Parts: sequence; structure tokens; C-alpha cells
Amino acid sequence: MASLFIPRASRRKFLRLSVAGIVFGSLLIQQPVPVFAQAKSTATPLKIGIVGSGKLGGTVGSLWVKAGHEVMFSSRHPEQLKDMASKLGPRARVGTVPEAIAFGDVILLAVPYSALPQIGRENGSALKGKIIVDASNPVVRRDGQVAEEAMANGIGATSLKYLPGTRYVRAFNPVGTAALENESHRAGNPIGMPVAGDDAQAVKVATQLVRDAGFEPVVVPLARASEFAPGTPIFGKPTPVDELRKYLGASR
Ligand SMILES: NC(=O)c1ccc[n+]([C@@H]2O[C@H](COP(=O)([O-])OP(=O)(O)OC[C@H]3O[C@@H](n4cnc5c(N)ncnc54)[C@H](OP(=O)(O)O)[C@@H]3O)[C@@H](O)[C@H]2O)c1
Repeated sequence: MASLFIPRASRRKFLRLSVAGIVFGSLLIQQPVPVFAQAKSTATPLKIGIVGSGKLGGTVGSLWVKAGHEVMFSSRHPEQLKDMASKLGPRARVGTVPEAIAFGDVILLAVPYSALPQIGRENGSALKGKIIVDASNPVVRRDGQVAEEAMANGIGATSLKYLPGTRYVRAFNPVGTAALENESHRAGNPIGMPVAGDDAQAVKVATQLVRDAGFEPVVVPLARASEFAPGTPIFGKPTPVDELRKYLGASR
């Protein structure tokens, strides 16, 4: 039978630990746990500007804040983003579109594809040389002529026509925000994320950002971006990485 005897010295230690535990426990109850997420995975925090902080930009930007990156969410009405950013803590801030482009070493574009020409025109020189991760999808019924142009001439080529001189990569395009929120860093077989680009350094940064968001990148050249565009079998269907590799015929 196990002895219930506790030596006197151990009893005193036990009592001290119990009292300390009760005090610490009550502190935990009284102090609300901060909602600011702890840095999880990234080795090198980046400065990221989000252009288009709606459903997609807000979701992916939040995942990056949680991963430890510094993120500026932008809008043409930045005051409307203040509540969202303040809940994310000190690594999140808000600004105008030009401020976010100036802030970011990397820019996430998450706007209607029809906005690309205007964004390129108005911010051309500030965008030059920046790594752009573009989640925007050309959808003909929504984006009209510029989406038709992308479908005819290639999404990558068309985007680069409107964003010349940028280090342009496409990612986060076929996975919806519900899956981005619910499947991030999921256990077991991760959800795959197609990444299309030709600039090796930009692709490297984008693949790290995909991993930091909780997904596994599958890289293809920019010319193959149409293989995960709206209307393709994987669009809107969160696909485990091994299936995505098979679909794209990619080894990594
Ligand atoms: N939602 C998804 O699940 C999902 C998934 C993958 C990819 N995408 C793609 O991501 C893009 C954004 O989708 P969303 O669902 O996030 O749309 P959304 O919620 O409507 O957000 C789009 C944002 O774009 C900004 N915007 C619009 N026109 C602009 C312009 N001319 N200049 C600067 N900013 C402009 C708006 O910001 P302000 O009005 O505040 O300035 C708006 O918040 C689309 O191309 C979509 O196809 C969406």
C-alpha cells in the first residue's frame, strides 16, 4: 500500500508551494490573459504591408502577426481597421496604401484584381523592387476587362504588366478564408498552398510566409499560375499537400 506519510520538512515545502500556487492561480484569474498572440514560428520577423485588408488580407495578415511578423494593414479608410489591429497587439498597425507600401519589405496584395492597374499607376516607383505576394484572383464577372486580359495572356504576365519592376509571386489564391483560419498549422498532413513565381529570392520569402501562416508551399513557375486560378479543380477546395503536389506534378 502506498504510504501517505509526508515528512515534516516536505510538508512545509508542500504548504509553501500550495500557498504560492493559490496566489499565482488567483493572479491568473484576476488578470485577463492578453489576447496578443505569441510569436510562434518565424526565425526572421519581416515588415509586411497589406494592401486590401478585407477578408483575405485581414486573415492572412493576422496569421503573420501571430507568427511574429510586423504587419501594417492598409485601407483607403484606415480608421476602419483600428479595432482589428489593436486586438492583434503591438506588431499590427494601420496606415494608408502608400504608407503600407513604404513600410513593407514584402507587400501582400489582396484586392479585386481590377484594382491592380490603379495600384500600379499610383504607387509605381514605391513598388519597384518590392517583393509582392499577390492573392488577388482575376474573376471575369467581377473584374471585367483586366481579368479577361489575364485569362488570355497569362495571370503572371498581366500582373507584371501592371506592377512592373516588382518581385512578383502569387500565393494564397485558391484557399478561402474559412480554411485559412481553421486549417492553419493543422496536425498531420498540412494543407498545401500553390506558390507561383520566377524570382528565386521572392519565392523563398513567399514560401516562408506560407509556412508561417500554417500551410505547406508547392512551388511552380509564374507561367503556371493559371493552374490554381478560379475554375480549376483545386480552387476553393483546401487540398492536402501530397494531393496538391500530385495535381501540380511538383516534387516539393
Ligand atoms: N475571400 C477569400 O476567401 C479569398 C481567398 C483567396 C483569394 N481571394 C482574393 O483576394 C482578393 C480580395 O478578396 P477579399 O475576399 O478579401 O475581398 P474584400 O473583403 O472585399 O477585400 C478587398 C479589399 O480590397 C481593397 N480595395 C479595393 N479596391 C482597392 C483599390 N483600388 N486600392 C486599394 N485597395 C482596394 C478594399 O479596401 P478598402 O475599401 O478598405 O480600401 C477591400 O478591403 C480578391 O481578388 C479575391 O479573389 C479571396
